[in-house]
Amino acid sequence: MSAPNKSFDPVEVEALKPEEIARMRDEALAAFAAAGDLAALHEAKIAHTSDRSPLALANREIGALPPQAKVDVGKRVGGARGEVSRALKARQAELEAERDARVLVEEAVDVTLPTDRFTPGARHPLTTLSERIEDVFVAMGYEVAEGPEVEAEWFNFDALNFTPDHPARAMQDTFFVRATDGGGAEQDAERDAETGIVLRTHTSPVQVRSMLDREPPIYVVCPGRVYRTDELDATHTPVFHQVELLAIDEGLTMADLKGTLDHMVGALFGAGVRTRLRPNYFPFTEPSAEMDMQCYVCHGESVGNPDRPCRTCSSEGWIELGGCGMVNPRVLVACGIDPQKYSGFAFGFGIERMLMFRHNVEDMRDMVEGDVRFTRPFGMEI
Ligand code: PHE
Repeated sequence: MSAPNKSFDPVEVEALKPEEIARMRDEALAAFAAAGDLAALHEAKIAHTSDRSPLALANREIGALPPQAKVDVGKRVGGARGEVSRALKARQAELEAERDARVLVEEAVDVTLPTDRFTPGARHPLTTLSERIEDVFVAMGYEVAEGPEVEAEWFNFDALNFTPDHPARAMQDTFFVRATDGGGAEQDAERDAETGIVLRTHTSPVQVRSMLDREPPIYVVCPGRVYRTDELDATHTPVFHQVELLAIDEGLTMADLKGTLDHMVGALFGAGVRTRLRPNYFPFTEPSAEMDMQCYVCHGESVGNPDRPCRTCSSEGWIELGGCGMVNPRVLVACGIDPQKYSGFAFGFGIERMLMFRHNVEDMRDMVEGDVRFTRPFGMEI
């Protein structure tokens, strides 16, 4: 439609007649009223208000009308479009309200119903504590090493300088999978097939395996499950966990061992918590020591101070952690390492015990029963 056509008579234009406009409007209003839901209303909206709807097309014709007709028809079409758009809005609001009311009913949740969902589990604190300890050593460049739980007696005892008659080998301490008729010390790795088979009583056989597998310098941390023939009670379990450490290098001394222990304890219990060594005996270390850490709760202040008892260390000021020492040269020789050139240190301790005093767990049985009410409070440490 270009220039206005002055001689144009709007009455002659079918599409713009008042009754035509009213019909378009009524059709739109009827369509909106008939739309039963928002999707249907959307269809009706496209049909009656889009650029190609009858009223929009009629609106386009107005430009070509003479001035007076333009005013009259403009009012009529504009009025009709206004009504249509108001009706659309009103119907939209009505249908939305209906939908909201329906959703509220349909999707109502009865919060008083008992739940039938599984509550999520949690990682066992023995696993997370063990990983925490490993991390301290991995950060110092140590490698995590693991070995079998069903172990040759040679790795568990002989290579570690346990004499054949050592009491730890007795059936009442060790679970034998296959017993030998003695003579353990004469056996060697070549005769593995004839050695007894045990459930490992400590993670120390992983030291032996690590030394046989690698060339020094060797820095390994060995976490794992170990077995002893104890009855399950509040302070014993026949299956428990240890972390053991082995360092073999040129010129290592007790000072390196002590520094490493201090660092570990500081990293796990807070900077400045000290360790002390007390003489002890292990066949595989010489000299050997029992290691204690200063109580990280009372820092020794409960000792001789009945007004401030400490239940973490039973007011002793120190907490026993595990065993340690310089690797016995006989063990180095059994593992093919020259004791003239290399020395090493090792230490090992039980994770259950550490978990007990670190978190005030009073009964070891809680750790083995697998009840999530025990594990969940430790949180989701990754
Ligand atoms: N393996 C010893 C135990 O289970 C602990 C230990 C490890 C002691 C390393 C000294 C050195 O009791």
